[in-house]
Amino acid sequence: MSQETVKGDAFENLLHEERQFPPSAEFAAAANLGPEIYAEADADRQAFWAAQARSLLTWSKDFEQTLDWSEPPFAKWFVGGEVNAAYNALDRHVENGLGDRVAIHFEGEPGDTETITYAELTERVKRAANAFEALGVAKGDRVAVYLPMIPEAVVTMLACARIGAVHSVVFGGFSADALRSRIDDAEAKLVVTADGTFRRGKPSSLKPAVDAALEAPGHTVQNVVVVRRNGEDVAWTEGRDLHWSELLEAASPEHTAVGHDAEHPLFILYTSGTTGKPKGILHTTGGYLTQTAFTHSAVFDLKPETDVYWCTADVGWVTGHSYVAYAPLVNGATQVMYEGTPDAPHQGRWWEIVQKYKVSILYTAPTAIRTFMKWGREIPDGFDLSSLRVLGSVGEPINPEAWMWYRDVIGGGEAPIVDTWWQTETGAIMIAPLPGITATKPGSAQVPLPGIAVDVVDENGQSVPDGHGGFLVVREPWPSMLRTIWGDPERFKDTYWSRFEGMYFAGDGAKKDEDGDVWLLGRVDDVMNVSGHRLSTTEIESALVSHPWVAEAAVVGAADETTGQAVVAFVILRSDAQAGSGDEAAAELRNHVGKEIGPIAKPKHVLIVPELPKTRSGKIMRRLLKDVAEGRDPGDATTLADPGVMQQIAADLRK
Ligand code: WT7
Repeated sequence: MSQETVKGDAFENLLHEERQFPPSAEFAAAANLGPEIYAEADADRQAFWAAQARSLLTWSKDFEQTLDWSEPPFAKWFVGGEVNAAYNALDRHVENGLGDRVAIHFEGEPGDTETITYAELTERVKRAANAFEALGVAKGDRVAVYLPMIPEAVVTMLACARIGAVHSVVFGGFSADALRSRIDDAEAKLVVTADGTFRRGKPSSLKPAVDAALEAPGHTVQNVVVVRRNGEDVAWTEGRDLHWSELLEAASPEHTAVGHDAEHPLFILYTSGTTGKPKGILHTTGGYLTQTAFTHSAVFDLKPETDVYWCTADVGWVTGHSYVAYAPLVNGATQVMYEGTPDAPHQGRWWEIVQKYKVSILYTAPTAIRTFMKWGREIPDGFDLSSLRVLGSVGEPINPEAWMWYRDVIGGGEAPIVDTWWQTETGAIMIAPLPGITATKPGSAQVPLPGIAVDVVDENGQSVPDGHGGFLVVREPWPSMLRTIWGDPERFKDTYWSRFEGMYFAGDGAKKDEDGDVWLLGRVDDVMNVSGHRLSTTEIESALVSHPWVAEAAVVGAADETTGQAVVAFVILRSDAQAGSGDEAAAELRNHVGKEIGPIAKPKHVLIVPELPKTRSGKIMRRLLKDVAEGRDPGDATTLADPGVMQQIAADLRK
């Protein structure tokens, strides 16, 4: 199959994908779940989730009501119950005699390693909980976390959860400005950071961004706790900045976890929406833990005694929350945590890690798989990957070609692939094959999980028949659903619940095939997906126009072979812009976006144009710009106020 599959008309090509891969008899026989699970959940959805909640978690106080949906869309799950996330992830395993089981095999980018057992991780979290409390962090307070992929990130998150503080993890790839706006929105009292990390063998810093973020007065931060990681010199604000190691050493290793209300806020995680302002997605405790733990066990067929699980996501994203920090530990699994990039110090680093720790479950993103495809199969072929038995994919649609390569080259032609669809807002996996049950199809997430009511509907909210496309919705509340947007319940209602009456609107296009399986077709709004990271066109446009040279800007996500989409910006400069050349302006503006939002948001291309295509009512026609950015003829431009604009842009680009 050619690259046309990815770039061309995905709708049509996907329809012709007919390969299917049923589980082997051996896999099915040993699988955690059998096909009856769907009927069981369908018979009584709430009873199903109540049973999962009670069997997967240890409650300090049992709940009285499974779901309170009396004020939709504000859900309350497991009403009256009390549960402590850290106790469930840690103490209870130690109490059950599993203290010596490895919780985390940490692999630093420079090659340093650390093996942390459940007993050791529990002690660290207890010390951190005591240390945070000693700094005045109390239940309900917010803690901003700006850390690399090191065990301290997980320790910090669980210590917050333990004392009922609400963590807000900010991905290390975000800038000082982005960090500050998130600190302000959540009114964080404490920031936990590190001097920095390593990137491709070189130190890369974090603490200076925290210092810059807190430079302007008017913030709520009282202390900054700093983990020593790369040993680089960092500026120090006496009285505000504290050393992680000193605090933890001084703290008591004893700490009793108390249950928190099932609806107590667990964390806020900011994600891009269709407007310039990121949304603080709020997740709470009982429902989130239930669905993350259930899906982790069901979708990956987890056997905690024998599996070695590795999710490559950073804790700065929701995947790193649900499937690194919470579910694997709640389920008592052994996991690998890797700090660095896949090509440091060589392009076989991941496969070396799989071989070394005998990883049996790998969960990663299509963009990574496509990168490995580009590097060539000789690289993974040089390692023993025979331990792998389940392969997961997340973050964007996986093209059938990448799916087949993943299965054949990484999975030895046998390991089932689970393509998992979900979002920051859904908290946990919603659509995925179950590896011992589903005959998988390359490129499709296929089936809503047991207990999840996903549908594809038309413009009017009517369910589409099999073989048709439309909008992806969720028809019934689910345990790990977002509860609101932090500080903005109206935006929560508007964004997700106003498009279709009584349904959650995900923002994705989807199609049901002739078997009723679901195929995801990408976003239908102004949200881009670059390497599985969500970026808002509007947010990048407002960063661009905040530069004094820029008069107007339009941003589109253009199809990209490796990253899924790439950010392409069309910019009109002011007549008094000081740029010497188009190249100079483009470089300056890319860096400006990096500073405003973060390196991940830097446009791949900045095209300086004399005009932007607009409708007669003044709306920018992004569709036409997307055509140009993807090298297509923009076609019908007759609805434009000035139909000549597109020819001019296209001519300029050919220069
Ligand atoms: C958006 C959510 C879920 C964790 C990572 C991203 C896209 C996610 C898939 C998939 C097709 C997918 C959707 C969704 N997406 N997984 N398996 N197939 N598309 O979380 O940053 O909240 O982004 O990612 O467009 O809406 P996120």
